[in-house]
Amino acid sequence: MPLRIDILTLFPEMFGPVLGTSIPKRAGEKGLVSYHLTGVRDFATDAHKSVDDRPFGGGPGMVMMAPTMFDAVEAAEKQDPRPARRILLSPQGRLFDQPLAEELAREERLLLIAGHYEGFDERIIEGLRPLELSIGDYVLSGGELAAMVVIDAVVRLLPGVLGHEQGAEDETFAGGLLEFPQYTRPRDFRGMGVPEVLLSGNHAAIAAWRMQQRKLRTRERRPDLWRKYTESSEGRVTSAEETTETKKPEHEAP
Ligand code: ADE
Repeated sequence: MPLRIDILTLFPEMFGPVLGTSIPKRAGEKGLVSYHLTGVRDFATDAHKSVDDRPFGGGPGMVMMAPTMFDAVEAAEKQDPRPARRILLSPQGRLFDQPLAEELAREERLLLIAGHYEGFDERIIEGLRPLELSIGDYVLSGGELAAMVVIDAVVRLLPGVLGHEQGAEDETFAGGLLEFPQYTRPRDFRGMGVPEVLLSGNHAAIAAWRMQQRKLRTRERRPDLWRKYTESSEGRVTSAEETTETKKPEHEAP
């Protein structure tokens, strides 16, 4: 059974270009995922097609109303007997990360709720009990872009999507480390070369160099990830051998 992803939004038209391009598109074409958009406004019951209203107690902005959201969720869920893991995108939510993407990629069905305006009536959260997810500590004008981030990160992990099975294993965050630097032709570019070891054909030396680079980068750029890594069993065994990274990126003052 392919992963089924339901998306509830006021702006279904935002999703077509993203889900119809590149990896998310290919995953759909291969039958590994199916996308189902529900326009929340279709469930509004008044003449103005209202989905939001002013907050009780006053204050700026508008709040997404519970009845339309409940009706939209129930209608979407009825389309398939499989229970859905409900996810609501919100800057108040748990921070989305790679381990969570991996967990969601093992689900049979995801239902993502994207909101707009100042927020959701709290009873949407109380009643539907979704996992509230944030993609970072900044405020977007709606949950749609966040939903697309989550979908992209999940779909590329589905078995068979990337083709080269190792693809998702070597990369940034796999094993809690950033990725090593990559090079391709030409060997010489504007006076910049390629590390000798990568041209050596010595696979063991290449693997060792790449692992060392992953550790160096993680330690220098992401002390938070580095701490977690060295505290993990994997890191405790192997973390002692690094030196400092010498090359500073151009955009950083020396
Ligand atoms: N909606 C608005 N801002 C958001 C964020 N940072 N993450 C998820 N959903 C959001």
